[in-house]
Amino acid sequence: MVKAISKQLKGVFIGEIRQNREVQQDHFLMKVVLPASFASPYPGQFVMIKVAGLNEPFLGRPISIYSFRRKKTFCTLELLFRVVGKGTEILAGLIEGSQVEIHGPLGGCFAIYPERENIIFIAGGIGAAPLSLLAEYLCREVCLPKSAMIFYLGAQTKTAVAGLDKLSKLCYRIHVCTDDGTLGEKALVTQVFQKDLKKYAPDKTVIYACGPRAMLKALHKLLSGTRYLCQVSLEERMACGTGACMGCAAAIRDKTGKVSYQRVCSEGPVFDIQQVIWDDK
Ligand SMILES: Cc1cc2nc3c(=O)[nH]c(=O)nc-3n(C[C@H](O)[C@H](O)[C@H](O)COP(=O)(O)OP(=O)(O)OC[C@H]3O[C@@H](n4cnc5c(N)ncnc54)[C@H](O)[C@@H]3O)c2cc1C
Ligand code: FES
Repeated sequence: MVKAISKQLKGVFIGEIRQNREVQQDHFLMKVVLPASFASPYPGQFVMIKVAGLNEPFLGRPISIYSFRRKKTFCTLELLFRVVGKGTEILAGLIEGSQVEIHGPLGGCFAIYPERENIIFIAGGIGAAPLSLLAEYLCREVCLPKSAMIFYLGAQTKTAVAGLDKLSKLCYRIHVCTDDGTLGEKALVTQVFQKDLKKYAPDKTVIYACGPRAMLKALHKLLSGTRYLCQVSLEERMACGTGACMGCAAAIRDKTGKVSYQRVCSEGPVFDIQQVIWDDK
């Protein structure tokens, strides 16, 4: 039985943790039950999450939506997160039955190109989380065949690779690589992808990427001067998560070539790779 869970402010919900387990060293999969009024998210969207009623840390933390299921009277949200500091450490310590404050779904989403034959995902570490929801969405809602989806997943070491089980059900091929060679090929994910690039015709391919800025910057270099469509999800530090503080601003070039600062939480987090000014940080 799902306990009655009340809605507070617009877009802010109190959810109850159904499960929070360590799936890989320092990586947790949290399942949260939310009221049915929580809007169905689109791939690429995220939530701001904090412990309900606890002001330490005062600000919520942005975490991508990893999986989502809607039932008649409630819905469940899964978050896959890596412990890197105080906020994520607190989240990792929450037990079944704890209440969390969830604000969302927030931000924009990945654009879908159902006619493209090659759907390429490139993730660095926990960047696999939003791309997993996208792969799931393309399979379930857009009915793309598994054979279209190829995933390149890189991480520093094998303990930083999480979410492989789910990805292997959704994608035809998964190329795993680590910087130290402890799992898969010993290489950077962009190097592994570069070797395959010629296999994918630009007009039949779409690339989705999420990971550390250095990885995305290397991908941008690799694709510059080509006609590949590539969307990236940026991870900036966030305070409000809703466009109010400008704390997450990133330099973005619009279609006319004009550069301005845009909020990753509201104009993003997904941008065309060619629009991002990679040298500003
Ligand atoms: C849109 C979005 C979606 C995200 N999705 C996920 C996800 O699905 N799973 C996940 O594990 N993490 C995700 N992150 C990153 C996550 O928000 C941060 O790891 C988290 O806020 C760190 O909080 P903390 O208090 O534990 O660490 P802090 O003590 O605040 O910081 C610890 C370290 O992490 C770095 N850090 C903090 N915030 C970020 C950030 N936003 N981006 C990059 N580095 C950061 C800091 O520079 C510092 O080195 C996402 C971030 C954004 C913006
Ligand atoms: S985090 Fe406040 S504007 Fe984006």
